[in-house]
Amino acid sequence: MQIAIDGPAGSGKTSVAQALAKELQFTHLDTGAMFRALSVVLSEEEIREEKDIEKRLSRTNLQMIPDGVSIDGRHLTDELRTETIDQEVSYYSQLKVVRDWLLAKQRELASELDVVMDGRDIGTVVLPKAEVKVFLTASKEIRALRRALQTNRMDEYSEILADIERRDHIDSKRALAPLRAADDAYVLDTTELNFDEVLEKIRHLVEEKR
Ligand code: DC
Repeated sequence: MQIAIDGPAGSGKTSVAQALAKELQFTHLDTGAMFRALSVVLSEEEIREEKDIEKRLSRTNLQMIPDGVSIDGRHLTDELRTETIDQEVSYYSQLKVVRDWLLAKQRELASELDVVMDGRDIGTVVLPKAEVKVFLTASKEIRALRRALQTNRMDEYSEILADIERRDHIDSKRALAPLRAADDAYVLDTTELNFDEVLEKIRHLVEEKR
């Protein structure tokens, strides 16, 4: 079974996908982490041109590990969520060469396993035939607030909000696989829902399909 959970930055999709996968004993695939992991390596190696990226990817080995991503045997966890990578990932994730390479990988993984996959384009592009598609939304203010509380950075609320606005804009306006709810996705506004309520709604959708 394939479950797709999409949504903007800070919508809680990764935490929800993780909890749901644990409950169902499915594999959770955080596609944002994949884009981030490639961004760590490519930016460290200062590879920015598409043709150079293509060459580097042809000898890159990416594997999902429990709390992150392994690239060429190097385990990346905390490195994935730095402010630098928040910036870099916006650049790399709009490139065709990066998206195509990850798309193949994501589909390959999903064909072998029962998955809960979260990202921006899972229901629209990666797994258009997913049995359950959810698109999580929430106001940008509440997304920023949740992120600030989660990371214990209430004093940086305005910067977090600005970053969310910046990423919303880039993710939804890019030419390739922009952030968008699939026509057959269940759109869930979580502004006034807590984590358990969100999980309960999705659990219900999964039960209906099973
Ligand atoms: O979900 P996240 O914030 O960890 O994702 C990081 C970035 O990766 C996000 O700003 C856009 C990109 N991304 C994407 O383009 N497509 C996906 N399926 C997942 C993430």
